[in-house]
Amino acid sequence: AGQEIYQASTTAPVNIAVVKYWGKRDPKLNLPTNSSISVTLSQSDLRTHTTAACSSKFPSEDTLLLNSSPQDTSGARTQACFRELRSLRSALEASDFSLPKISSLPLRIVSENNFPTAAGLASSAAGFAALVRAIADLYQLPASPTELSRIARQGSGSACRSLFGGYVAWQMGTKDDGSDSLAVEVAPASHWPTMRALILVVSAEKKGVSSTSGMQITVATSELFQRRAEVVVPKHMSEMEEAIKAKDFEKFGKVTMMESNSFHSVCSDTFPPIFYLNDVSKAAIRVVEDINKKAGKIIAAYTFDAGPNAVIYYEEENTAAVAGVVKGALEGLDGWQSREIESQDAGNLDA
Ligand code: PMV
Repeated sequence: AGQEIYQASTTAPVNIAVVKYWGKRDPKLNLPTNSSISVTLSQSDLRTHTTAACSSKFPSEDTLLLNSSPQDTSGARTQACFRELRSLRSALEASDFSLPKISSLPLRIVSENNFPTAAGLASSAAGFAALVRAIADLYQLPASPTELSRIARQGSGSACRSLFGGYVAWQMGTKDDGSDSLAVEVAPASHWPTMRALILVVSAEKKGVSSTSGMQITVATSELFQRRAEVVVPKHMSEMEEAIKAKDFEKFGKVTMMESNSFHSVCSDTFPPIFYLNDVSKAAIRVVEDINKKAGKIIAAYTFDAGPNAVIYYEEENTAAVAGVVKGALEGLDGWQSREIESQDAGNLDA
C-alpha cells in the first residue's frame, strides 16, 4: 500500500436486554455464565456512528476518538477486536494477492454517539458493534453479523447483540475458546412492528459500579446468583423466545419485569451489595404497576440495566395509556420515545 487513506463508515444501534447478561465464566474472552435476549432500539433515536480508516501516513499508534475526545486503545478489549479483525484481513490478503496489504497499517477510528455517553444507556454495546463493523467493512471481510458478534463480544459482552436489528439472542455457548458464544436473530423487528420503548433518563451520571467489576463480585459472593444462572435464566430464555414468536405482550412483559427484578436481586445479594436503582427508578416501577392494574393486564414492562435509567416497553396501541401516563407521573425527566424498534438487519444499514 502507498500513501492512500482507506476508509469505511457504519452505524450500530443500542440494544436493551430483556433477559439479562450478568456474570462472566471467562473474563478475558467475555464468555457469559448465561444466555441473554435483547431488543434493538431504533437508530434514529440511539446509535453510534463510526468511521474506520487506515493509512501508512498515520502515526504508528492506533487511535480512537469518541465524541471528539481521545480514548485509550491499549486496553485488552479494544486490542482483542483489532487483533481478530487484522488477522481475518491478513488471511484474505494471503489468499488474494490483488488486495492491497492494509492489515498492518495503523488504524484511526472516529465515533460519535447521538446520545449522552455517560448516561448509562448501553453505549458500549453500540460502540463496540460499530467499531467492529466499521473495521470489517474497511477490510472488506465477508463476515456475517453472527461471525462479527464473536469479535464484538470481546469488546463488550452486550455489543454482540447490536449486530442485528429486532430481537436477538446471545447464546452463551459451551466451548472454552468462545467460538460458539454468538448472537443470533430470534425475530426481525418487522415480525412485531407495534413494539415500542420509552427510555427515562433518571440520572445522566456515570454508573457507580461498572458492569465488569459488578459481575465479578456477584459471581464471587452471591449465593442467589447460582440459582439465577442455572434455573431462572434458562426458564426465562425459553419463555421469552416463545413470547416473541407468539407476539404475546403479556408474557413478554411479565418475563421482562421478572428478569429485571431477578438481576437487581442478585446485585443486592452481592457482598458488598450493589444498588443500581434509585428512588425515581422505584417510582417508575410503581407507575408501571398502576398502569397494568388499571388495564387489568400487562400492557407495560419496565427493565433496568446497571444504572437507574428505566426502559419501558409497550405496544403502539397503548401509547397514551403507557408513555403518556409515565411521562405525566414522572414529569421533568428527560427521555426518548421510540418511533419503532430497529427494523432493518443492522448489517444492511450502510448500503
Ligand atoms: O456488556 P456489558 O459488559 O456492559 O454488560 C451489560 C450488562 C447489562 O446491561 C446489565 C445486561 C445486558 O444483558 O445488557
